[in-house]
Amino acid sequence: MAGAREAVVVSQSTHVLPLEFNRRYPVLVRGEGVWVEDASGKRYLDAMSGGSMAATLGHGRKDIIAAAHAQAEKLAYVHNERLTNPAQEELAHELAEVAPDGFTRVRFVTGGAEANEMAIQIARRYHVDRGEPKRWQVISPAQAYHGPTMATLALTGRPGLKRPFEQYMPEHLHIPPSTWRFDPSGEQALQALDRALDAAPGAVSAYFCEPVSAAALPAYSPPKRFWEGLAERRARHGFLICFDEIVTGVGRTGHWFAAESLPIVPDIIATAKGLGAGYAAIGAVLCRQHVYDAVANGSRKFTLGHTWDGAPLSCGVGLKVIDVLKKEGLVERVRERGPRLREQLAESLKGVSIVHEVRGRGFLLGVEYVDPRDGKSFLPPELRTAGTVDDVAFENGLITYSTMPTRDGFAGDQTLFAPPFTSTDAELAEMVERFSASVRNVASQLETRLEPRPVR
Ligand SMILES: Cc1ncc(COP(=O)(O)O)c(C=O)c1O
Repeated sequence: MAGAREAVVVSQSTHVLPLEFNRRYPVLVRGEGVWVEDASGKRYLDAMSGGSMAATLGHGRKDIIAAAHAQAEKLAYVHNERLTNPAQEELAHELAEVAPDGFTRVRFVTGGAEANEMAIQIARRYHVDRGEPKRWQVISPAQAYHGPTMATLALTGRPGLKRPFEQYMPEHLHIPPSTWRFDPSGEQALQALDRALDAAPGAVSAYFCEPVSAAALPAYSPPKRFWEGLAERRARHGFLICFDEIVTGVGRTGHWFAAESLPIVPDIIATAKGLGAGYAAIGAVLCRQHVYDAVANGSRKFTLGHTWDGAPLSCGVGLKVIDVLKKEGLVERVRERGPRLREQLAESLKGVSIVHEVRGRGFLLGVEYVDPRDGKSFLPPELRTAGTVDDVAFENGLITYSTMPTRDGFAGDQTLFAPPFTSTDAELAEMVERFSASVRNVASQLETRLEPRPVR
């Protein structure tokens, strides 16, 4: 076990300020394809694309590394406030080409939260430049995650995440998700949206949401009726619709952008993770021509930005990522292979008492757990069911990412399953097998721990 000890860092023993102080951090030292290796030499299948769904093309790709190297040699960095560079110009062009129709303008940032914040700023700029300065407030689903900065944290309705930073955040408005448990038709969410619009007459700038949710509600997307109702209300009330496609953008759901697969066209899209595929820190905000026109015909200024926005090195990586996705037909592969992956996952979990649902689009899948005593309630949070699934899976050489109840009331234990697009059929089958063995193990441990419910 000496090796295993080496592979794990007890956070207090390092100079890194950890995210979770009680967690023991495994040290990963190399990666190749869909495999990563820890310091003891143990290998893990990466069913989470680097843990955060960013490494969509797997690890150690020599072609992307070579593109980064070539770009760094030519020109690694210039700032884009007063200068531009071919990599930024070409990447904006490439993104506009693969984006849904009408998305003609692109602005680069360095990550997901920055992209979302930039989207909020662009929406605000749009209204101010059109002579509606009262519009600032955002309506968004409560069960969501848009980033850890103050402006993006304010977009979620999850008090557990926001505490103790509420003082730094503006008051936005939230609506509940339309899940099977609360509102399968989407009507209640629409009513909540109406109430929010009434509560802030003439002050709503944007409706902000993940078109298909990531960690907050894995692979959930509202029903068609909700999207149709949202589009009607946009036409009536004049707010913009912003999609957080930080995870779903650049192929994850089997479309270049998830927006293409929904019965609604947003006005602004923010994207990040898959654009750099884990090889560069890059994000982007795309907007439709009418949003651009409002600023072009108004203040004609948008000078707020970050040092690394549109830098040649990260844009050079983005260009190669798009090239690989196109040449290897990976977006199409995810679209075609995704439904079978979901079936394989559902099949392998059949009959497991805690599994209620396997959802998914493309290579963004989610497994939702429930209390086996009634097949629908959330599991008691103190059991840490989903967290235990991750621990057992890790022992079994598989990287997964689960979320646990935040006591916000809208979601319970659940696991994300989001492998790299380059995973072979055999690798996907192995991931599914290791995952189902882990979930079955946790379910049987749990069944012995759960007290029978009293008969009423
Ligand atoms: C849906 C979604 N939006 C935004 C973010 C924030 O992105 P970043 O961590 O790059 O700031 C994340 C990160 O996980 C995310 O999943």
